[in-house]
Amino acid sequence: MIDRKDLLELISVPFKLEGLKPRFIRVSSAHISGISYNNIREEGLELLKEILSSGLRITVPTTINPGFCELEEQDCDKETYKKQLEIIETFKKLGAKPTLSCIPYLLGNIPKKGDHIAWAESNAVLYTNSVIGAWSNKESGLTALASAILGITSFYGVHLEEGRVPKVKVNFNFELSDEVDAGLAGFVLGKIVKDSIPFVSNSFKNRYDLIEFLASVGTSGVIPLVVIEGITPISVSKDYLNQIQSLSIGGEEINKAKSSLENLKSEEDAILMGCPHLSLKEVEDLLKLNRKRDKDIFVFVPKEVKAVAEKKYSKELKDKNIKLVSDSCILWGGIVSRNYRKVVTNSVKGAYYLRNVLKVEVGIRRKSEIMDV
Ligand code: F3S
Repeated sequence: MIDRKDLLELISVPFKLEGLKPRFIRVSSAHISGISYNNIREEGLELLKEILSSGLRITVPTTINPGFCELEEQDCDKETYKKQLEIIETFKKLGAKPTLSCIPYLLGNIPKKGDHIAWAESNAVLYTNSVIGAWSNKESGLTALASAILGITSFYGVHLEEGRVPKVKVNFNFELSDEVDAGLAGFVLGKIVKDSIPFVSNSFKNRYDLIEFLASVGTSGVIPLVVIEGITPISVSKDYLNQIQSLSIGGEEINKAKSSLENLKSEEDAILMGCPHLSLKEVEDLLKLNRKRDKDIFVFVPKEVKAVAEKKYSKELKDKNIKLVSDSCILWGGIVSRNYRKVVTNSVKGAYYLRNVLKVEVGIRRKSEIMDV
């Protein structure tokens, strides 16, 4: 039996570690990660069922991350599919909206500037803090669920004004010409700033590159916020920026990061895009590029995007061998069931996890390289 007191204990841990009295703040929404059966396995599912049978229910609008299988296609092994479905059903009974996407900030759960929220999924936390100006620490799947039930979160970190002040300025000494450059820059930045909130100039060509940058920051680092000049609704004076520590990231660091992430030794079995999930606009942008290879490209999207895109662009998708996959993370059961061992992706975050979690060989290629060979 799990009760509200247990959940309160759980979200109080940051204060207990410091020997401080816990303080809380109300949240207007939650987003929960760690819903893939490949990730939480039997122990995670049992815990969710125990929370459900204890009578606890979600009390604020709450969405959930993608799982491990595409539900309609049933594209993972039977047992995993059954378990994945059980996880999603349990979340539904608890009161979550089964969005199964990692871009809730564009579709399904859009916070407003100044909202205090309890979100897990690092790319979503970084986007809402850095672009929308909502306030969330980087929660775990479990603390986000606890907050979704309690309607409150621990009042520390970036929920406080002082936690949102940049402490280090990071300059990019090279052009962020596309999503891979942006992703690699984010990956290096996440590592070098440790737990200091950084300030960066807006060097991104478009929203997609910015999302890839923030997703990579969340992959290599612990910070929940990057203050981006002209984007993040936090004002920082020039005088202040001249006083704080300044770091630079150059082409050499970027090339090193790319080599450390790649281990593809021969031609790939599959191409994967959509980590984080692509919006409809990004799918449309992809369809504008030439396509000369005959290998399938699996593109991960929210189910709403798949429904619209398949209706509107069925010929274009077919001509370009693009298969839209919904409900699933790029760490996808279809890779295992199809026995793909070598993959290419344009996502730095995707490359990191595909190599380290699914243990496949990975190559990083730019969208333009994938689509215009
Ligand atoms: Fe989304 Fe999975 Fe990437 S949750 S951000 S597709 S690792």
